[in-house]
Amino acid sequence: MKKLLIAPSILSANFGFLAEEVKSIDNAGADWIHLDVMDGHFVPNLTFGPPVIKSIRSVSQKPFDAHLMVSNPDDLLEEYVNAGVNMITVHKEVTLHLDRTLTRIRELGCKAGVSINPGTSISGFEFLLEKIDLILVMSVNPGFGGQSFINSSIEKIKSISELVGDRPINIQVDGGINDSIAPKVIKAGANVLVSGSAIFKGGNLKSYKQNINSLRSSL
Ligand code: DX5
Ligand code: ZN
Repeated sequence: MKKLLIAPSILSANFGFLAEEVKSIDNAGADWIHLDVMDGHFVPNLTFGPPVIKSIRSVSQKPFDAHLMVSNPDDLLEEYVNAGVNMITVHKEVTLHLDRTLTRIRELGCKAGVSINPGTSISGFEFLLEKIDLILVMSVNPGFGGQSFINSSIEKIKSISELVGDRPINIQVDGGINDSIAPKVIKAGANVLVSGSAIFKGGNLKSYKQNINSLRSSL
């Protein structure tokens, strides 16, 4: 049984106090810090890149989990590693030479992940399993926090879970996760929950603790 992990997405943090927010979410019990990088091209929204990640690296010892929602992830892999991330997840929809990209990410000393949008199939994963540390199932269309969970994600997680079997690959789900959805995705085979709006609601450490505890106790 893989460890169940909670990875709060700082997309829903107050960017005006980002370092404080990362500290708080760490103290509140986050297992990983999920970093939603958006380029305004692959997704309509824009967030942050390596310089901002570097500036918050020192405030937490938790693994930094970078989810690159960008059209050209290969261009800046080294910069993300130098900024201090521990995992890099790229999108299958944009990565033409996925095998090469995953190999490169590992060569740079990071864990390698692949993400798929709600409309993307899992075909081809069977050829990459030895090179993947994490599969990220998007359960909303990427770009914005606070959207509703897309139900077909459950069947997709089940198929991925069967394909992965007992390999040491984390199955992460991202988008619309709350206390009522979380048990369903875990039952389907996911073991890493990303959550933004449900965890950052309340806007202070006490609420973050309550929100994370409530997510954990829903499982
Ligand atoms: C969406 C991001 C998610 C998102 C999750 O593009 O990848 O990490 O912020 O936010 P919630 O939990 O609010 O759906
Ligand atoms: Zn994400």
